[in-house]
Amino acid sequence: MSDSVVVYVTRSGHSRDLAKDLGTRLGAEVREIVDLSKRKGILAWINSGRQAAMKSSTPIGDPGIELQRFGTVVLVQPVWASAICPPLRTWLRAHARELAGKRLAILASCYGTAAGAIRAAFDAEFGAELGPLAACATVLQKNEEGLRKASVDAFVHELLGK
Ligand SMILES: Cc1cc2nc3c(=O)[nH]c(=O)nc-3n(C[C@H](O)[C@H](O)[C@H](O)COP(=O)(O)O)c2cc1C
Repeated sequence: MSDSVVVYVTRSGHSRDLAKDLGTRLGAEVREIVDLSKRKGILAWINSGRQAAMKSSTPIGDPGIELQRFGTVVLVQPVWASAICPPLRTWLRAHARELAGKRLAILASCYGTAAGAIRAAFDAEFGAELGPLAACATVLQKNEEGLRKASVDAFVHELLGK
């Protein structure tokens, strides 16, 4: 049984695809944090960006993972406003105590934000409580399959190499 679990949130499905791919590669369970906020339409898009910029926590359907079973937790999210996406923030805050001491990593789908920005955003919000990320990468939504695969390969290498 794998020591890892992949936990994802998505608005338009790209992070789900990445999470499922990672789950297959790592032999890990894949679970979804369900975003309960309205996200369709231009007003919801603007509101989502605002929530991300304000570092809001928004309502979720919690997948109820038995975190004590896992040593490594891989988080997959879309980048919103170069930051941690609000539904993931809600989950991280709700489970911070259980996550302390585990190896955490983030793989994020985006238009172009660099991984360093996501690592810095995580460090600023959660680094003191949860420690540094074991791996962090972004995958460009526009990339064709080969480039996307190369990005995920590099992420898995970083994750397993440590
Ligand atoms: C509200 C909002 C803000 C976004 N902000 C960024 C951003 O700062 N940087 C970026 O590269 N992409 C940004 N994006 C694009 C998404 O990260 C990208 O479309 C991602 O692949 C969506 O993943 P999903 O299908 O899992 O929701 C933003 C998208 C939304 C909806």
